[in-house]
Amino acid sequence: MAKPQIQIFENLGALSREAARRFAEAAAEGASGNRDFSCALSGGSTPRRMFELLSDPEFRIPWERVQLFQVDERTVPPDAPASNYRMIREALLSKVPIPSANFHRIAAEKDDRDAAAREYAAELGRVLHPAPGEWPRLDLVFLGMGGDGHTASLFPQSRALAERKLWVCCNYSPRLGKYRLTLTYPVLNAAAQIIFLVSGDDKAETLRQVLEGPPAVYPAQGIKPANGRLSWFVDRQAARLLSQAARSDV
Ligand code: 6PG
Repeated sequence: MAKPQIQIFENLGALSREAARRFAEAAAEGASGNRDFSCALSGGSTPRRMFELLSDPEFRIPWERVQLFQVDERTVPPDAPASNYRMIREALLSKVPIPSANFHRIAAEKDDRDAAAREYAAELGRVLHPAPGEWPRLDLVFLGMGGDGHTASLFPQSRALAERKLWVCCNYSPRLGKYRLTLTYPVLNAAAQIIFLVSGDDKAETLRQVLEGPPAVYPAQGIKPANGRLSWFVDRQAARLLSQAARSDV
């Protein structure tokens, strides 16, 4: 894996604008020939502004050639305040002409969570058509990072950290006391491009440890695309404890 690229932005607005530009750039490249562009989106709060910016016509995104997936989802109904789908729908899907069949929602509200995970994995396979025995390869994945160093719904001391066969699994967060459905490391690390979006002073210490501390401590450190590009988009507040060597301000 090539060395991760760290880009530091003045604030979340500038970070979000560059993330939206990178999405548009990747979509233009990915939606070529008879292939659609595929992207997996995280939930939480950080990516919301970027999602809103994507509806700006200046990006000229070929929405009919875009396939959107979720990185993870909470085990709540799709209209619940905590639902990642609800946030993505409000901030993005409701504002752009993407065909409804091109957004692939994780049905994490189902009682049988393992069946829901299997169904989502099958959906990934139907759209991405990996060769037999290969991992499905997403063109682009946007990830966040929690204060505990989790990413997606890969939480510290959780079972899914060891998952190397399933593409999607149900995972329990000991800290939250809740279950979530999540893409697993093999699928995330098969992506062509991964961009972390990290903002806020409260993330600074964890970000320093993830990027400059001992390896294999935090789940976010398990994101190492085998044949892909890894970027960290961080704002100044989150980057304030990083060494000068780790920084390349934008
Ligand atoms: C979720 C996300 C999760 C998120 C981090 C950061 O379901 O919450 O997928 O992994 O990216 O928790 O969340 P914030 O962006 O809200 O800080």
